[in-house]
Amino acid sequence: MTTDPGDIVWHDHSVSRESREARLGQRGVVVWLTGLSGCGKSTIANALDRQLNEQGRATMLLDGDNIRHGLCAPPAALVQEHGQEFADRFGLGFGATDREENIRRIGSVASLMASAGLITLTAFVSPYRADRDRVRGIVTAAGRDTDFVEVFVDTPLEICESRDPKGLYKKARAGEIKHFTGISDPYEAPREPEIHLRGGDDRTPDQQAAEIRQWLAERGVL
Ligand code: PPS
Repeated sequence: MTTDPGDIVWHDHSVSRESREARLGQRGVVVWLTGLSGCGKSTIANALDRQLNEQGRATMLLDGDNIRHGLCAPPAALVQEHGQEFADRFGLGFGATDREENIRRIGSVASLMASAGLITLTAFVSPYRADRDRVRGIVTAAGRDTDFVEVFVDTPLEICESRDPKGLYKKARAGEIKHFTGISDPYEAPREPEIHLRGGDDRTPDQQAAEIRQWLAERGVL
C-alpha cells in the first residue's frame, strides 16, 4: 500500500516555539561548524558546549562520527537480514549524494532542536556549499533569519594533515579511503560565514569558543 503525499497533513502544535523559548530564557539557534577533518571543529564545539552549560544554557551537540552511528546509519534490521553488503549499498557513505542526505537529515534534526529552544551546536565536515545553504533554508524557514550561524573553522590542510588524529589522511594519501575531503574530494569554503575562525593560530579551543559565545551575546542570542 502506498501513501499519497496529500494524506500527510502538517499540524500546528499547541505549545508554541515562543513559549518554549520563554521558559528556557533563551533563543533557539543552530551554530553550524564546518571545516576539514582534523580542523578542530569538534573540539571547539565541545568547549563551547561546556562554557554554555556552565552559564546555565540549554544546549545540544551533534557531531559527525556519533550521528553516523545512529540517525545516519543503515536500518539495523535490514543489515541483519541482508548483511554487510546491504550496509555498504544503502548506508550513507562519503560520495556527494550521500553527504547531501547526511547533512539534510542532520539539518532537519538541528532545526527541530532549535525550535525546542535549544542552542544547537553541530560539527560536520559539510563540504558542499549547497548542502549548508539548504540547512540554512530549513532552519530559517522554521524560525528567524538569524537562527543559522555558520562558523568556518578555517585550518589549512597541511595542519589538519599533520595532526591526523585518526590516521585517516595517511590512509587517504595511500588510496585506502575514497572521497576523502581535501585529498580526493573538494571542500567548498563558506563565502560569507557569520564567524570565521582561523584554525592553527595560537589560540586555544576555549578562546575560539569564547569568540563564538561573544558573537552570540552581541546579537542577543545569549
Ligand atoms: S560530512 O561530509 O559532513 O557528511 O561528513 P561527517 O558526517 O562530518 O563525517 C566526517 C567524519 O568521518 C570521518 N571520515 C571522513 N571524513 C571526510 N571524508 C571521508 N571520506 C571520510 N571518511 C571517514 C572523519 O573522521 C570525519 O570526522 P572529523 O571529526 O571531521 O575528523
